[in-house]
Amino acid sequence: MSRILSDARKYEEIMEKKIKDGERPGFHLCPRVGWMNDPNGFSFYNGEYHLFYQYHPYDSNWGPMHWGHAVSKDLLNWTYLPAALAPDMAYDKEGCFSGSAVSLPDGRHLLMYTGVSRENRPDGTVRDVQAQCIAIGNGLDYEKYSGNPVLGSEDLPFGGSRYDFRDPKLWKSRDGHYKCVVGNCTEDKDGRVLLYTSEDAVHWEYVKILASNDKRLGKMWECPDFFALDGKQILLVSPQDMYPQGFEYHSGNGTVCFIGDYDERTDTFTEESDQAVDYGLDFYAPQTVSAPDGRTIMIGWMQNWDTSSLHSPNRPWFGQMSLPRELSVADGRLIQKPVRELESLHGLEVRYENMTFTDVVRLEGVEGRKIDMEIAVRPAAGKSLYEKFVVRFAQGGGHYTSVSFRPHESIVKLDRKFSGCRRDVVHQRRCLVRDKKGEVRLRILLDSFSVEVFVNDGEQVLTATIYTDQSAKEISFLAEGTAVMDVVKYDLL
Ligand code: FRU
Repeated sequence: MSRILSDARKYEEIMEKKIKDGERPGFHLCPRVGWMNDPNGFSFYNGEYHLFYQYHPYDSNWGPMHWGHAVSKDLLNWTYLPAALAPDMAYDKEGCFSGSAVSLPDGRHLLMYTGVSRENRPDGTVRDVQAQCIAIGNGLDYEKYSGNPVLGSEDLPFGGSRYDFRDPKLWKSRDGHYKCVVGNCTEDKDGRVLLYTSEDAVHWEYVKILASNDKRLGKMWECPDFFALDGKQILLVSPQDMYPQGFEYHSGNGTVCFIGDYDERTDTFTEESDQAVDYGLDFYAPQTVSAPDGRTIMIGWMQNWDTSSLHSPNRPWFGQMSLPRELSVADGRLIQKPVRELESLHGLEVRYENMTFTDVVRLEGVEGRKIDMEIAVRPAAGKSLYEKFVVRFAQGGGHYTSVSFRPHESIVKLDRKFSGCRRDVVHQRRCLVRDKKGEVRLRILLDSFSVEVFVNDGEQVLTATIYTDQSAKEISFLAEGTAVMDVVKYDLL
């Protein structure tokens, strides 16, 4: 093992002890210490889920990328394992960037990641070049392949940028071959997804450009993922530098889900529609795993580059993973639901039904900072349609975060403006939801430092981090006009 990796392992083991239990999220994964970004190598191997992550143990800001590592049997309780990869070779000295994992037929676990190295150019400038690399291991220790990198600049199609060639996602296809998609862009920064194939997951060959942006959605496309789901084919990408589009896409770094069909014989992906994956503030670079029971489960970095300045300077960790979400396709749309394992954390249930209200209400027993709460709102019979419904949570000391619904406009808004943040970053997001004549369902998962709102049984999701003091636990509901609601709330243990 290299000195750089063993130092990182020693460091994280010592430093994690300095973080007390309550200082970490309750049921979301944060880094063992330091900085976390994208989920990597999300896989089921030797009876457990493995989740790696972009990791800089030495600072709560981004730095030379390592791969952190955690395992879980239920996708909720994670155990940290020692860092798996460190930037310790000439071809990855500037970082072990994002990638993925598969199990090999001989029982070993293979990681494919992007190695970043610095290149001195003839004109005196330096640029970071990206290439794909392999490491093989046993779920704990990984050895980098002696033939790395396995995909380099010579494997790019015409006009492909060597500086933006990253985030391989590999899988074993039905015919026994391995395939992988890699994010790339043209020299003028137009994103595309490249497809490669391999007999052994180590030696790779270029196949084709699987999908091209053609200047529609942002520039470079990061972190592609490609999989079959409910008879359709899904392509996920995380574009950089997006322009906003209506209520669908916000500016900056976005997450896009293309739904279409895939002809495996010709490797042709035909797009039918695209949509945002998450409509909130903090979600990026999602990756899926195919669970042993057939579910497709997605996890994302619960953060976004433009808002990653929003963190407390004295916290020894930064960055969290979203709650793992079960994916399906219905009516041509991606549906996301919190993994059903979450029910095993359900504690005390508090339930209210058919509450008619016209102003602010608080409900006895409905409060808390680690909760799973489902609210169903509808118009009151014989009354005109209410103007607005609002639920405020993480409320106290003058702070709160809210989710509101305006039935006349069919808009759900997540707003953390008053969550106790002193930074001037974007704090609100709106999304257009399906018109259901004033009915809306909101499932709100609140953890110490985040909120995820699943709208209308997972038709849309809005996610945000919030760093409100943990003493802010109150919840209140408000109707402008007369509305009726059911509320079910569980404490999460
Ligand atoms: C996405 C990303 C990836 C890259 C990694 C570096 O958030 O920019 O494209 O591999 O982060 O940490």
